[in-house]
Amino acid sequence: MKIKKNSIQLKNIQYIQKQEKEPNFKLTPKKKHERENIPRKYLRARWKHFLSQDKNGDLLIEGVNIKEIVKKYGSPIYVIVEEEIRKKCRAFIEGFDYTPFRPQYACKCNSNLEVLRIIREEGFDFDASSVGEIILGLLADFRPEQITFTNLYKTKKDILFALELGVSVITIDSIEELKIAISAGEQINKVVPIMLRINPMIKEGKFSTKKQQYGIPYSLAKKAINLIRDNPIIRLKGFHFHGSYAHNTKGYFLAAKKIVKLAEYAKENGMLIEMLDFGGGFPVEAPKAYCPGKYFTPKEFGEKFVPFFKKLCKEYELGEVTLVFEPGKSIVANAGIGIIKVVSNKKLGPREIVITDGSCYSMFPDVLISHCDYEILPGTKMRTKSTQKYDITGCTCDCIDVIATRRKMPRLEKGDLLVVMDAGAYSFVMGSNFNNLKLAPIIKINKNGETQLIRRRDRYSEIFGPELDVLKLADPTEMKYFYDLLRKNH
Ligand SMILES: Cc1ncc(COP(=O)(O)O)c(C=O)c1O
Repeated sequence: MKIKKNSIQLKNIQYIQKQEKEPNFKLTPKKKHERENIPRKYLRARWKHFLSQDKNGDLLIEGVNIKEIVKKYGSPIYVIVEEEIRKKCRAFIEGFDYTPFRPQYACKCNSNLEVLRIIREEGFDFDASSVGEIILGLLADFRPEQITFTNLYKTKKDILFALELGVSVITIDSIEELKIAISAGEQINKVVPIMLRINPMIKEGKFSTKKQQYGIPYSLAKKAINLIRDNPIIRLKGFHFHGSYAHNTKGYFLAAKKIVKLAEYAKENGMLIEMLDFGGGFPVEAPKAYCPGKYFTPKEFGEKFVPFFKKLCKEYELGEVTLVFEPGKSIVANAGIGIIKVVSNKKLGPREIVITDGSCYSMFPDVLISHCDYEILPGTKMRTKSTQKYDITGCTCDCIDVIATRRKMPRLEKGDLLVVMDAGAYSFVMGSNFNNLKLAPIIKINKNGETQLIRRRDRYSEIFGPELDVLKLADPTEMKYFYDLLRKNH
């Protein structure tokens, strides 16, 4: 099948730009001399390149006042700091002194098209975990041969789709899936390029893959290789491992040690391995969010892993093997910022609560799922002394919708803005419309302080659409009536 990729991409981008008219006043970043450092108590090395404050104590992101951002685009909102993504991509690539090295970005953790475009520009390939993500990757202008399709379960239809597009490799998660891939390849008489995802059954401290549902258990891996050896429709390109949240670097070493043995076995059976992929799982530079152990940089890891890996490949005579990793959250988490507004205060005995227009459900689901403890800045009171301790809640009708507890803050009141840091990963993509809230819009800020809307706020028609489509023949004017009423009351 011939893909007219560029035309697809261009059409969609024009669509986005045409659809969304930004309010037509321009945000002007403060001049360098008008920017102050934020107070030491709030300052973290990872933010100092893009956070500052003005003389009134308003937080500036790349020089742009957050009050202005909210005035222009509304609240709540996410901000993506472009330069921070670029920095993280470069640091990752520079961390591994190895050729050939092919990092892939794990799209699942932040799949905004503009984020994908930036990461592609920085030289990453693309890890897709569904047909939807493959399509997104193509819309972001990744070439099919840059795309890997890795997930726990694929239908034959999914495999045929990926195969026809010509993705680089399909990662096979089980022997059953291998059989489906064989049948798909035979159906269209096309060789299926695959990696076998392996569960090496390792345990290191609190980190263990032994109970994870992913990959072919190590004890069955040779059986899978034997099946491939006997079937010309499958081309075994390599092996894959992803161990989820890394507590330290040791898991990668343990996995590599076991997986190269399978590469050797494949070679002995006439299949020379081209690539070994050790997944993502790298920690985020944020002590209480996505960093279950001690943080390590790509460089700290790469300096040890690369010589180890080279030695292993030599020892097992594997020849030139492409080294692949699939970082996700470590690339984008620090670049994402949530801005939420205080809408009311409540005092319950000793407990002081501020209620915001954000929510764990719609904006910060990992507070509930992964117990992320995001750092939160008093964005409109950066210079004010912290005298209070607040529980900061979301606005949904669930009492567990608490974004943070007992946070030392200046006295907060209705209208103050709070800034949730390091929230660029697994936030928007996992957010839900619980309480039929609209998902927040996303803007991007570049290093010159230029802003761009990269996702608009949801519309009710989009939230209700799947039900209206099948349950109610809504009068086309009905939704319009509600919209007009809402607009009138603004
Ligand atoms: C196969 C695979 N690769 C990469 C990733 C990215 O992981 P992280 O965001 O922890 O780097 C994931 C996350 O679930 C994954 O399942």
